[in-house]
Amino acid sequence: MEHFTLKNGVKIPAIALGTWQMRGDVCKEAVLNAIRAGYRHIDTASAYQNEVEIGQALRESGIPREELFITSKVWNDARGYNSTLSAFEASLERLGLDYLDLYLIHWPASASRYEDWESVNLSTWSALCELYRTGRVRAIGVSNFMPHHLRALIESERSPMVNQIEFHPGLLQLKTLEVCRENDILVEAWSPLGEGKMLQNPTLLEIASKYEMSVAQLCIRWCLQNGALPLPKSKNPNRILENLRALDFEISSEDMAQINIMEYFGGSGVDPDNFD
Ligand code: A2P
Repeated sequence: MEHFTLKNGVKIPAIALGTWQMRGDVCKEAVLNAIRAGYRHIDTASAYQNEVEIGQALRESGIPREELFITSKVWNDARGYNSTLSAFEASLERLGLDYLDLYLIHWPASASRYEDWESVNLSTWSALCELYRTGRVRAIGVSNFMPHHLRALIESERSPMVNQIEFHPGLLQLKTLEVCRENDILVEAWSPLGEGKMLQNPTLLEIASKYEMSVAQLCIRWCLQNGALPLPKSKNPNRILENLRALDFEISSEDMAQINIMEYFGGSGVDPDNFD
């Protein structure tokens, strides 16, 4: 498995299995199939309510813990210093792990819901810094943070190492991408297939056919070549494997440029500044 290297030197496997909306045996099987296919990076969150079954799959896989890269996230109801520390311990317990590789703030507190949104984010962030300092987690970051949410954290005691955002053709999020690049923050791409909405797009179908690849593989590869780490979700063993094969080809710079300028044509429709 290829990897990206975070600014603290930690290596992070270049494609992860996303697990949002997967639960129970379906989730456990997907994680086991992904590990069999060669994935070593699994992305979850307390809000996904699947940490218990993911922990079971990790143990059943028999893969040594140090070869796996496990991410979880603190949910919006646990913002603030003490509740974030408790939420972290609860996630570890559900996963049956004694450390995490990456822990993220799932959504920014924003001005539409909090007068003191910046200090709420900073107090949550200081808990993540404490977990990092004490070695409970190998890397820390955020998710769904736009440049104005990132600013105070970048200037705090420790700048985030990762920002996980919605990222797929039609949603390049160039401003966020640029701020992350300038500050050596790795962008991770959630919904790299736009929850499946990319798959029938005629432009993407035409470009993918040139490489004899599927549109899913094209979207995943497009993330990688933009320096973003894709987190495709699938419960299907063949598609889990297919998505990993995005490591095995290269999109030309002309085709990258053509995809980069595509207008928005679908996605989650969620705005981090108004997310409840
Ligand atoms: P399935 O689980 O049946 O494979 P995203 O990661 O952008 O949110 O997209 C997830 C959606 O895309 C899921 O509905 C998943 O369905 C589907 N999907 C994942 N990989 C592929 C693929 N290689 N080809 C077609 N659909 C895929």
